[in-house]
Amino acid sequence: MGNSERKGFASSFGAIAAAAGSAIGLGNIWRFPYTVGANGGGAFLCIYILFVFLLGVPLMMGELMVGRKAQKDVLGAYKVLSPTHKGWLSLGWLSLITAFLIYSFYSVVAGWTVNYVVLSASGRFMGETPAAISQIFAEFTSHPWIPVLYMGIFVALTAIIVTKGVQKGIEKSCKVLMPVLFILMFVLCIRSVTLPGASKGIDFLFNPDFSKINGGAILSALGQALFSLSLGMGCLVTYGSYIRKQDNLLKTSVVIASADTLIAVMSGVAIFPAVFAFGLSPASGPSLVYEVLPNVFNAMAFGTVFAVFFFLLLSIAALTSTISLLEILVAWGVEELHQSRTKATILCSTGIFLLGAVCALSFGPLSHITICGLTIFDLFDKLTATYFMPIGALALAVFIGWHLTKEETFDELSNSGSLKCSYYKAWRFIVRYIAPIALFVVLVAGSLGIEF
Ligand code: PHE
Repeated sequence: MGNSERKGFASSFGAIAAAAGSAIGLGNIWRFPYTVGANGGGAFLCIYILFVFLLGVPLMMGELMVGRKAQKDVLGAYKVLSPTHKGWLSLGWLSLITAFLIYSFYSVVAGWTVNYVVLSASGRFMGETPAAISQIFAEFTSHPWIPVLYMGIFVALTAIIVTKGVQKGIEKSCKVLMPVLFILMFVLCIRSVTLPGASKGIDFLFNPDFSKINGGAILSALGQALFSLSLGMGCLVTYGSYIRKQDNLLKTSVVIASADTLIAVMSGVAIFPAVFAFGLSPASGPSLVYEVLPNVFNAMAFGTVFAVFFFLLLSIAALTSTISLLEILVAWGVEELHQSRTKATILCSTGIFLLGAVCALSFGPLSHITICGLTIFDLFDKLTATYFMPIGALALAVFIGWHLTKEETFDELSNSGSLKCSYYKAWRFIVRYIAPIALFVVLVAGSLGIEF
């Protein structure tokens, strides 16, 4: 496919909506609260926000820049920008592998969400105790085929949209669905903070206790920031290649990171007060949202209606993220392997379905298979967010800070000199020194389990 045939986003708002659609997803509403819960609350939140704005935004600008400059898929981008140093291609490969692994476990959780739309609509949670609600979750996720079915439905839905041309699908849906998700989240927050006993949850989220922070928690905060911003694994290279040359990369990145963080914090506000009010544990792991929120809906007027809408919107937020994950792979299949878009989509989705099925079953029939003490699902989650994405981000920082020249990066950030770019020196300093050092230290310390 020649570059002239590349179809990009139609407007800057479309680009922001699409990239925010990728960023805002299960990572914010499902993963963020349980990661905060497992790492002690407020102090973790402070470190998380620091990572998002100090490292996340400059790296996001850099990642979008790589794609926009190369006008290529994630592997092709490194081929174009580094024709002589082939070693950089391994960063492209790492990105593709990471996308594949993330998509396979992500689609399992997305499938749970679709199932929760159905369960909520049929009134399955109505009048149930917190213990019974937890039991429903455990029974469903360990079922030998239902989670696979829902995961498959999700993968198929994503594939249909991607074959049809992802830009239109993403741009359109994000513009409408993200504001609606925001409003519903706001309503949930209000309900949750007005529950009796809610203040404990607010304290947990906003009162930092830095004694709870160790190397592992810092590594998790970094992994969560990268995961939530869809950073360090080629997604933003791919989307960057669709962004118009006249769009401002700083503005685009700041808006995406702010929207993403706001939704994450709001889901913490919606969830923790309810966790404490219902006597549940904030550290209950990946099941947190699915076990806690039905209790909140039970305590609300028109709870069933809210529950259906919430899980439906959560499914859609997940969908705009899976579209971006699949697009990384499909863009590679189309541009590097010269497959038709439809064929690339079908092949990638079939692979994802097979791997996703293994992840889905790791809560039930395959739960006995553990590697380093982790089930397959947990392993994929940990491997990608805790290791592959930080490694990808570190390599990316070195690539944009040291491999690309000052002229090349300035030209891209300033849109060939038409923007003032007074922040340029600070940006370059961060990507050359602060980001690589911080990423390296955190990665090594976290992997060795060093507490600091
Ligand atoms: N950022 C998405 C979320 O928070 C997950 C994701 C990661 C999507 C990487 C695309 C690429 O849900």
